Amino acid sequence: MILKDKKLLITGILTDKSIAYASAKIAIENGAEVIATGFGKGLRITERAVKRLSEDIKVYEMDIQDPKQVEEAVKAIKENHGNIDGVLHAIAFSPTEAMGGNFMNTELDDALASFEVSAFSLKTLAKGFQPIMNNPASIVALDFDNSQAWPGYDWQGVAKSGLQSIVRYLSYYLGSDGIRVNAVASGPLATTAAKNIPGFSSMEGEWDEKAPLGWDTKNAEPVAKVVNFLLSDLSEVVTGEVIHADGGAHAIGGKMIED
Ligand SMILES: NC(=O)c1ccc[n+]([C@@H]2O[C@H](COP(=O)([O-])OP(=O)(O)OC[C@H]3O[C@@H](n4cnc5c(N)ncnc54)[C@H](O)[C@@H]3O)[C@@H](O)[C@H]2O)c1
Repeated sequence: MILKDKKLLITGILTDKSIAYASAKIAIENGAEVIATGFGKGLRITERAVKRLSEDIKVYEMDIQDPKQVEEAVKAIKENHGNIDGVLHAIAFSPTEAMGGNFMNTELDDALASFEVSAFSLKTLAKGFQPIMNNPASIVALDFDNSQAWPGYDWQGVAKSGLQSIVRYLSYYLGSDGIRVNAVASGPLATTAAKNIPGFSSMEGEWDEKAPLGWDTKNAEPVAKVVNFLLSDLSEVVTGEVIHADGGAHAIGGKMIED
């Protein structure tokens, strides 16, 4: 029960395939109280998915691009639950014009929309919830390793590079409050967001072949366990870090030599 007595805000649950859903499930199994957020037209879908986890989880509306909604969510969560011990940032979006091989023709507005929702939003979330976070506390974001270019991932990839950097800056600015900030670089998982990435399906088999530990794109729980480690006090001296939860694929340059 590594999260006993911990109150966690889990953003980004859309369906039972969401990485945030698996993270909430493992967190509950580890003793945490979970609070969820959803947004816009997806809010009802989030509420249905969350009900499958537990009838007791409250869902608050929070569009990360809407400062008023963030402020209201912080206020309502403080009133109803008190201070929190951790936050999972599981939020990403890119307009279709910013992915799928349109890199050279993407307009600034579309690239900025990717950055705002997928990267800057981590700062928005951290700043909003900082006043109601305990000491120690933990913020975890979900990354896709972007040390290489992934054709088709395009400006979402650029946003992920920004996200990694924001993790490091937040670790600096929030460390004195006892707030750790880390990211988990997940291998590909078949979620709603992933299905909108052109070329995602071709990556699925390749990842399993490349990863020394193998890889199952339909099982988010191994990634969720790493998220839970970072949300727990077991990671009390870890901050500004990106942990790869990808079966080891990031460490391997090419295909294994076969004799
Ligand atoms: N699925 C993968 O292969 C993979 C790999 C590495 C990292 N990730 C990252 O994991 C995170 C979660 O994605 P997922 O794959 O579980 O997909 P998902 O579609 O289940 O979750 C994406 C979430 O982003 C939320 N969102 C989008 N715009 C928002 C906004 N303006 N305000 C608040 N919430 C908003 C959606 O409501 C949704 O819940 C993302 O950051 C994604 O980039 C996914």
